[in-house]
Amino acid sequence: PVAASASAPHMVITAGPTREALDPVRYLSNHSSGKMGYALAAEAAAQGARVTLISGPVNLPTPQGVERLNVETAVQMHEASLKLAPQAALFIGCAAVADYRAESAAEHKLKKTDDRDTLTLTLVKNPDIIADVAALPKGQRPFVVGFAAETQNIERYAQDKLARKGLDMIVANDVSQQGLGFGSDDNAALLLWRTPTHNEQLVAPPQPKTQLAALIIQHALKQLSLISSG
Ligand code: C5P
Repeated sequence: PVAASASAPHMVITAGPTREALDPVRYLSNHSSGKMGYALAAEAAAQGARVTLISGPVNLPTPQGVERLNVETAVQMHEASLKLAPQAALFIGCAAVADYRAESAAEHKLKKTDDRDTLTLTLVKNPDIIADVAALPKGQRPFVVGFAAETQNIERYAQDKLARKGLDMIVANDVSQQGLGFGSDDNAALLLWRTPTHNEQLVAPPQPKTQLAALIIQHALKQLSLISSG
């Protein structure tokens, strides 16, 4: 791999799930493997970028040349992202962030009781990390790439997410397709991005996540250079 030089663009990538404690031994999370985010980090580093990977708990080795910051919760990922993003050229939000966390994690292990068959948990909304990065003021705002995992109306939901979160580009995939997306080594995607006048798109057919990562990084860097030169 190419060693990142001081002038290399700094990329910040979030990956993996977040883990939201319910009590000292239990948590809420999801099935994100982190593979797509790690593939993006590996590819960006191989292309000579300085990469910081903000990672939720996953079972993956840190890619060569990548600086890794481990976090557990959405709040921790939010804090790390907003600290690093203002100095970065590119921010890719690939993490599957839990939408909600327990209003308060119990201090002691929640006990099963004999008198009640139900347990009610109160959850509160987590911050939207990528939307907050995209809302950073000019001069502190990196080029922002988001992901959208959908099971239907992929293009419409992705266009909506691109606009609502204020992103520059979005990578949407159909997670209902067998053998693609969550946990698998392959992925297919629809890349959508904004130009000053309209939105453009590119269809990426099913391919290994490592190959798709290269396409996404190339594409994001190209859009970024068009913006900064333009
Ligand atoms: O709204 P949804 O979760 O589908 O959006 C997905 C995109 O938003 C991904 O890029 C994900 O990393 C990011 N996201 C985030 N913080 C959240 C929820 C999602 O950064 N709390």
